[in-house]
Amino acid sequence: MSCHTDDKRMSWESSHHASGDVACASCHNVHASHDPVLSKQTEMDVCTSCHTKQKADMNKRSSHPMKWNQMTCSDCHNPHGSLSDDDLVQPTVNETCYSCHAEKRGQSCGSMHP
Ligand code: HEC
Ligand code: HEC
Ligand code: HEC
Ligand code: HEC
Repeated sequence: MSCHTDDKRMSWESSHHASGDVACASCHNVHASHDPVLSKQTEMDVCTSCHTKQKADMNKRSSHPMKWNQMTCSDCHNPHGSLSDDDLVQPTVNETCYSCHAEKRGQSCGSMHP
C-alpha cells in the first residue's frame, strides 16, 4: 500500500479481506509476467479457491454469463474494499445492479413484471 494508494484501493484497511488477514499476495502473483487474478478468464478461479460457496452457487441457473467468464466477481465486488457492506463496487446493492441494468433505474418491481 506504500505505492498503491489510489482511489480503487482507498478502502483496503476497512475491507473484509484486510480484516480476514488476506494479503495482497494471496490474490496477486507479483512476479509472474501474467497475473491470473487480473485476467477475466482466470479471476474467478482465484476467488473461488477460497470462496467455495460462491463456486457451488455458479452451478445454479442464472442469466449472468459467469460460467463463460464474460462476467466476473470484480464486476460487482471491489476485492480491495469499498464503502458498502459486502465490498460492492457501488455504495448499495441497487446502485451496483444499475451500473449495468440502467434501464431498471427508477422503476418499481411492479413495472418490471407487468
Ligand atoms: C481478494 C483478492 C485481491 C486482494 C487481496 C488484492 N487484490 Fe488487487 N486486484 C484484485 C483484482 C480482481 C483486480 C482487478 C480488478 C480490479 O481492479 O478491481 C486487482 C487489481 C489491482 C491493481 C490494478 C492492477 C492493474 O494492472 O490494473 C493493483 C495496483 C492492485 N490490485 C494492488 C493490490 C494491493 C496493493 C493489494 C494489497 C493491499 C491487493 N491488490 C490485494 C484482487 C485482489
Ligand atoms: C451480479 C453481481 C455479483 C457478482 C457477479 C458476484 N457477486 Fe458476490 N455479492 C453480490 C451482492 C449484491 C452481495 C450482497 C447481497 C447478499 O447478501 O447476497 C454479494 C455477497 C457476496 C459475499 C458475502 C455474502 C456471503 O454469502 O458470504 C461473498 C463472499 C461474495 N459475494 C463473493 C463473490 C464471489 C467470490 C464472486 C465471484 C465468483 C461474486 N461474489 C460475484 C453481488 C455479486
Ligand atoms: C486467500 C483466500 C481468499 C481469496 C483468494 C479471496 N477471498 Fe474474499 N474473503 C476471504 C476472507 C478470509 C474473507 C473475510 C471473511 C468473510 O467475510 O468470509 C473474504 C471476504 C470477501 C467478501 C466480503 C464478504 C462479506 O461478508 O461481505 C467478498 C465480497 C469477497 N471476499 C470477494 C472476493 C473476490 C471477488 C475475490 C477474488 C478477486 C476473493 N474474494 C478472493 C478470503 C479470500
Ligand atoms: C457487469 C454487468 C452486470 C451487473 C453489475 C449486473 N448484471 Fe444482471 N445481467 C447482466 C447480463 C450481461 C445479463 C444477461 C443478459 C441480459 O439478459 O441482459 C444479466 C441478466 C440479469 C437478469 C436476468 C434478466 C433476464 O431478462 O433474463 C437479472 C434478473 C439480473 N441480471 C439481475 C441483476 C441484479 C439483481 C444485479 C445486482 C446484484 C445485477 N443483475 C448486476 C449484467 C450485469
